[in-house]
Amino acid sequence: MPTDHPLRSDDGLVFGGDYNPEQWPESVWLEDVRLMREAHVNRVTIGVFSWSSIEPREGQYEFGWLDRILDLMAENGIGVVLATPTASPPPWFSLAHPEALPVTADGVRLIHGSRDTYNPAAPAYRAAARRLTSAMAERYSFHPALRMWHLHNEYGTVSYGPQTDTAFREWLRAKYGDLWELNTTWNTAFWSQGYGEWEEIFAPQATQYLPNPSHLLDFKRFSADLLRDCLREQAEIVRSVRPEVPVTTNFMLPSWNHYDQWDFAAEIDDVSVDHYPDTPGIEGDVQVAFGSDLARSFNGGRPWVLMEQATTMVYDYAQGRILARDPGKLLFNTLQYLARGATGSLFFQWRSPRAGAEFFHSPMVPHAGENSRTFREIVELGTTLANLHELAPPPAAGHGVNQNRVAIVWDATAWWSTDTRALPSNDTAFLPAVKSVHRALWLLGINTDFVQLDQDLSGYNLVLVPSKLAASNAEAEVLRRFVANGGHTAIWYFSGSTDENLNVRQGSFTGAFADLLGIRVEEHFPQLEATALKLSDGSTADCWAEAVELRGAISISNFTEFPLAGRPAVTKHGVGMGTAHYLATRLGEDALRTHLRRILNDAGVSPEHPAAGYGIEAVRRYAGNDSYLFLLNHSEETVDVGIHGHDLLTDSALHGETTLGPGAALIVREPWAEQ
Ligand code: GAL
Repeated sequence: MPTDHPLRSDDGLVFGGDYNPEQWPESVWLEDVRLMREAHVNRVTIGVFSWSSIEPREGQYEFGWLDRILDLMAENGIGVVLATPTASPPPWFSLAHPEALPVTADGVRLIHGSRDTYNPAAPAYRAAARRLTSAMAERYSFHPALRMWHLHNEYGTVSYGPQTDTAFREWLRAKYGDLWELNTTWNTAFWSQGYGEWEEIFAPQATQYLPNPSHLLDFKRFSADLLRDCLREQAEIVRSVRPEVPVTTNFMLPSWNHYDQWDFAAEIDDVSVDHYPDTPGIEGDVQVAFGSDLARSFNGGRPWVLMEQATTMVYDYAQGRILARDPGKLLFNTLQYLARGATGSLFFQWRSPRAGAEFFHSPMVPHAGENSRTFREIVELGTTLANLHELAPPPAAGHGVNQNRVAIVWDATAWWSTDTRALPSNDTAFLPAVKSVHRALWLLGINTDFVQLDQDLSGYNLVLVPSKLAASNAEAEVLRRFVANGGHTAIWYFSGSTDENLNVRQGSFTGAFADLLGIRVEEHFPQLEATALKLSDGSTADCWAEAVELRGAISISNFTEFPLAGRPAVTKHGVGMGTAHYLATRLGEDALRTHLRRILNDAGVSPEHPAAGYGIEAVRRYAGNDSYLFLLNHSEETVDVGIHGHDLLTDSALHGETTLGPGAALIVREPWAEQ
């Protein structure tokens, strides 16, 4: 990981966005540069989706415009993140290679007209993407404006059809070796699915009723590996020309699960993410913290790139509306990203497109032009970030950009394993479970990382497992060792009930973790949505209950109603020097926080600042040898916080009680850093 890379120039924090000069006459480019300079823009991402402008006919390149814009950026001191435009093959490609068009799970072959219209398994697509990547790498690797390669855009295309079937079969052969192994692992004797030849196996397209969950899970793994291979081959090409140029690809967080983020992170130099909170108010702020913590964790605790956020609007096609951000909120949210390790902020996109898809998406320069609230806020944000340049250096060796004591388990298999229709309840889904635990900790003022269970966990006091249906023996052993060595854990219902191939563990649900937890789970009692469960400590729960038998653990609270009255709902087991807590139900919001407080207490974890929690966010960020305490007030109340140091936002010394109004923030260089 090249943290002291020559191309990691001392531009300070990065600021800018996706820039599509190919959509505008060159006269507008000069205006763009003027406005970029006014806003302190020092980074633009060029090339995303520009395939038809760069290669308008197969093998015929039009690099003139790209040469001119890169030169213009270099002349104006604006660094370029250069994207390979391979997420959007042009119309000529789909006519020349119809077999490379994507096929949906329902068997519909799509045609161009939007973006991402290709099958990643199609040899013609892969060859075209490689050719274009090579041509760009040869031409631009030594361009003075180049700061980073941005490979593709938001990998995530999943396709079915004959070319996918062929590649899937090869992947399965490599995984299983012989059909007996596959038939056994998928238990194909159920519903007469026994495979006698590899050619009988298809990618899991639409079928009559429930598909085989193990088959589905392997297809998700295959698709993820396929996308990783697409990324890998582009990375190899650009690195073969100039290895020291950092490479990234932008992850869509947190909703994109078409690949394994940890695997992707291992292929690139820096993780970058696109992040679009979709809820106003404090819940949107919770999402900012969540996305940032994922991004930093995927990047190994190092500073990460916020490749895209939106300016004034919270953009949500799903709900059919675009909401404005309140005045000042853009700066406030950006400080949150910074606190949690962002290297600055880039946006989608610099200028609103005149027409075309996303023509009302929020930009840095809106349709209304520079005389607008949006652009004024952009100038304010750019000026603020320019003044915060001392946050830019990576933390001194041995430090993460933040140093947290609590981690939440996040892994692709855990997510995919609950993406199946045949589970006892929909309330077992991965993402809502993980989000709710992260949110509860955020409200308690506790900052978290994410980990997977093949990592060194020794830096953490507490590792939480909100949802991990599929767990391997090796993963269970990592957690057991962590606890035996003095770590603490809490594991939520249904986790560990299957192995990594969705084979249900026999003898006890939650079987992978049953010994560690000192329990046996005999039967599930999924609940109807409206049912509230009362527990013996006065708290409430819902969604799920289980028949838990204590096998060494103690019960902290019990179910109180028929048929589980007196049976444990929340348990604790001492193992070695640590503790393992189990939650056999979904605790209500208050009860969850109360119980997390107990667990945090056992684990000896407290917030970064005594004022933190319930809307006051306190995060310590390290840069060079210095540390900076970010304090952000998300609440409606004015609070007094005790603080010593130098506030970078107001450039003033703070000694003792300071007032922090609603929506206000401090970034305090801590006193020991000044000596
Ligand atoms: C991102 C994508 C951008 C743009 C944006 C809109 O996911 O990378 O190209 O579509 O969403 O929110």
